[in-house]
Amino acid sequence: MSFTVAIDGPAAAGKGTISRAVAAHFGFAHLDTGLLYRAVGARVLAGEAPLEAAHALVAEDLDADGLRTPEVAQAASRVAALPDVRSALVDFQRAFAARAGGAVLDGRDIGTVICPDAPAKLFVTASAECRATRRYDELRGNGHDVTRDEVLADVIARDKRDSERATAPLIAAEDAVTIDTSDMSIEEAVAAAVAAILSKDGRP
Ligand code: DC
Repeated sequence: MSFTVAIDGPAAAGKGTISRAVAAHFGFAHLDTGLLYRAVGARVLAGEAPLEAAHALVAEDLDADGLRTPEVAQAASRVAALPDVRSALVDFQRAFAARAGGAVLDGRDIGTVICPDAPAKLFVTASAECRATRRYDELRGNGHDVTRDEVLADVIARDKRDSERATAPLIAAEDAVTIDTSDMSIEEAVAAAVAAILSKDGRP
């Protein structure tokens, strides 16, 4: 039996941390769909194809560490605005969502486009300031030489592009439960997510 948890929200809101914890809690598989767009974006950055032909690039080699740079994040947001890139990635995501044993997918359009029938949908958000501070700490912790202002500008630019694009923009599904993590600890945010999922029917 499959059970899909769709988790959407803006950059650095805590989706990844919450998704991993939720997947571990329920014993579900987890797909960070941002990595698919990052993999395509990284290949454009590497000059493997121009932006217009990005849909021909396969999202493989999902090495999270190599893909979590600010440059790749921006490239991912750019390729993600292209309808052909998005449609090339749909089947893989839907197949993952349908796997037996349950799946958690996090991204921008999981509850709205990829899995509109998901029984549990969360929209995880936080203030831009808060998200920038968290992403700054994470990037610095991984040895990236960035300033907090650069990270804030990056987060705001990506949110704007991701929310204003014509195809599958970042928006909460009507039936999503919104969790604002601005004033929550990780433990509180995970507990809120688990409680929201437990309130849904059909869980394995
Ligand atoms: O979640 P992330 O920061 O790794 O995502 C990188 C970019 O990929 C993000 O700015 C927009 C795009 N993306 C998307 O358009 N749809 C998704 N489901 C996931 C990511």
